[in-house]
Amino acid sequence: MTQRTALVTGGTGGIGTAIVRYLARQGHRVATNYRDPARADAWRAAIAQEGIEVAMVQGDVSDPASCEAMVRELESKLGAVEILVNNAGITRDTTFHKMSYQQWTDVVNTNLNACFNVTRPVIDGMRGRKWGRIVQISSINGQKGQYGQANYAAAKAGMHGFTISLAQENAKFGITVNTVSPGYVATDMVMAVPEEVREKIVAQIPVGRLGKPEEIAHAVAFLTGEEAAWITGTNLAINGGHYMGW
Ligand SMILES: NC(=O)c1ccc[n+]([C@@H]2O[C@H](COP(=O)([O-])OP(=O)(O)OC[C@H]3O[C@@H](n4cnc5c(N)ncnc54)[C@H](OP(=O)(O)O)[C@@H]3O)[C@@H](O)[C@H]2O)c1
Repeated sequence: MTQRTALVTGGTGGIGTAIVRYLARQGHRVATNYRDPARADAWRAAIAQEGIEVAMVQGDVSDPASCEAMVRELESKLGAVEILVNNAGITRDTTFHKMSYQQWTDVVNTNLNACFNVTRPVIDGMRGRKWGRIVQISSINGQKGQYGQANYAAAKAGMHGFTISLAQENAKFGITVNTVSPGYVATDMVMAVPEEVREKIVAQIPVGRLGKPEEIAHAVAFLTGEEAAWITGTNLAINGGHYMGW
């Protein structure tokens, strides 16, 4: 196996931690960003208990200058980024007629504009080395829309538009670009949803349960592997059968 350098944004979150773990166990050098140094230290200490060393760089994915600095710092610590997983994300749910401009821009900046902010500083290097793997973590709700999530669904759908354009532009440089669209996974983001709402969601999932973060990480590991060189521009839905659009 070729050891690569991977940057997973939002690696300290529920799905991000599983992705970090998976890529590290495959033998890659893995990095993630943080915003709060105290929380970052606690997270790094916990994952170190599992024997996993993660490079951590300060960075806010919604801020282009911060991302540029984050990538340059990471390159000096770990080497050039060869695998990028745009995973950091937030929700600010409310129906559109009540939505503030702030709720709209916060979600678009952190989910969609972050793809520009983090990918732009790594793409030239990938093109120059003629190898790269980029994965966007989108959402089932970017595919089907969701009541109360016009901001999030728009941003997540936009992420796949980004994927399929970048995939076309960079295929001849050995770079694959794909989207993973998780359904409802048991992380803090979903456990924050009121229990009665969650029960209704689970009732709509043919497999009959929420997803596990590892089930998303497994797909990311697959798509970022050496042997996935001919898979580009795809949107892999992982949702227990909740949405089967194509
Ligand atoms: N959970 C689900 O069911 C589900 C379903 C579909 C899609 N997704 C998507 O999967 C991804 C991960 O979700 P999750 O459930 O693991 O969420 P999570 O546990 O809330 O983790 C989110 C991560 O993103 C980071 N983050 C948020 N805003 C950031 C910013 N401005 N700059 C840098 N980092 C930032 C957080 O860091 P801080 O600690 O600094 O906030 C955290 O590490 C998201 O893109 C989400 O939309 C999740």
